[in-house]
Amino acid sequence: MNIELLFTGGDCTPEIVRGKNAVVVDVLRATSVIATALENGASAVVPFGAIEEARAFAAGERERVVLGGERNALKIEGFDCGNSPFEYTRELVGGRQVALTTTNGTRAIENARGAKEVFILCMRNLGAVAEKILSGGRDIVVVCSGTDGKFSADDALCAGIFLDRLCAKSDARLDDAGRFARDFYSMGRERGVGLQDLLAESLHLNRLRARGFEADLDYCLTIDATGVVPVYRNGRIAL
Ligand code: MLT
Repeated sequence: MNIELLFTGGDCTPEIVRGKNAVVVDVLRATSVIATALENGASAVVPFGAIEEARAFAAGERERVVLGGERNALKIEGFDCGNSPFEYTRELVGGRQVALTTTNGTRAIENARGAKEVFILCMRNLGAVAEKILSGGRDIVVVCSGTDGKFSADDALCAGIFLDRLCAKSDARLDDAGRFARDFYSMGRERGVGLQDLLAESLHLNRLRARGFEADLDYCLTIDATGVVPVYRNGRIAL
């Protein structure tokens, strides 16, 4: 199995993912929110790049659709939820669709839509997605969403752990970016450095910390907490 790693969602094109499976990651926090909403019984998460598209989807359907997302990490005016996974409770999202728009994550997911299958990865479902990929056997492209169009260490770290798992259980062949991400993780592990410490100076983590989202960081950086494997198909993400 050949594995390519892209460090930003903008690097993902239909040509790169054609004929392959894609795995999209936005640890802080879009893909963690998606996994949580589905785990808590949302019937689907529908990702949108633009705020107005999400609003239009939910218009007249507010009983059935939860409107969620962020800009600058904060809740959008008139929306039900921001981008904290703790807002997507079973009481709120159970049996309803979530229309979600975020700065980077939902755009990266849309960019991967030409792939055979598009899986949604975060730290919390890392092992479950790895098992799914291993059983598929197809070449894959891992798409880090990045932050504001640039490399983001939290996504690269999650990708590195994910690739480390795949390499341990298969003959996966990584590209330079993949080896770099895996080494970032494994060098930290060998030195006994925890995930939060590896990310201590990263831009997005510190932005969220400064805005009071410390609990989100603990939650989103917890590995293997759930078995859900969200799949993006025909414009919607579901289990
Ligand atoms: C994004 O999609 O850019 C992030 O999920 C932003 C955030 O953490 O709020």
